[in-house]
Amino acid sequence: MSRKIVLAITGASGAIYARATVEALLAARARQPLALSAVLSATAPEVWAHELGGDVREWLASKDVPVFGGRDYAAPFASGSARWDSMVVVPCSMSSLAKIAHGISDDLLTRAADVILKERRRLLLVARETPLSAIHLDNMLTVTRAGAVVLPAAPSFYGRPTTIDELVSTVVSRVLDHLAVDHDAPRWGGEK
Ligand SMILES: Cc1cc2nc3c(=O)[nH]c(=O)nc-3n(C[C@H](O)[C@H](O)[C@H](O)COP(=O)(O)O)c2cc1C
Repeated sequence: MSRKIVLAITGASGAIYARATVEALLAARARQPLALSAVLSATAPEVWAHELGGDVREWLASKDVPVFGGRDYAAPFASGSARWDSMVVVPCSMSSLAKIAHGISDDLLTRAADVILKERRRLLLVARETPLSAIHLDNMLTVTRAGAVVLPAAPSFYGRPTTIDELVSTVVSRVLDHLAVDHDAPRWGGEK
């Protein structure tokens, strides 16, 4: 049976992390059965277009990744009974993180995260903001206590990356590790 993963994209900076994570997950399907669906926040398409150019929905469709958004609570992962395995929010804005921390499920993305937490499944939040306020830090502690993993979009340099893609891969390889996906996304020098 395929493991079912929801990939959520918010309006935080770092659309490139989302694109690289989708590509790494699709490549990882050669090693294990994975089913991937995507959910977008209302702001995600604007930031994607600003940072990468193009339409995120069209790009996901070109990769045959089903994409949902808005308040489409009929999406399969909006209910615990559909038994999705994991969810990664990449990049994760402080707004979505705050809503997830406080159980505010006012769009499909935050509802899906709420479901993953209540079902005690794997939730990974690739948080992106700097600097962090006490509110952000409190919310990160709250979601961590609720069972989520906060994995900041903080690339590493000890592998001496020389391109943006290599830098991005230092984060994406950690994301796939925490999703327990067998992958060959390059680590650029090995993770510490
Ligand atoms: C170009 C751009 C970059 C942004 N970067 C960030 C960011 O890194 N972190 C963050 O928390 N919000 C960032 N924002 C603000 C969020 O998009 C905004 O708070 C939005 O309401 C988040 O909602 P969402 O989580 O539903 O996408 C950015 C906005 C824009 C337009």
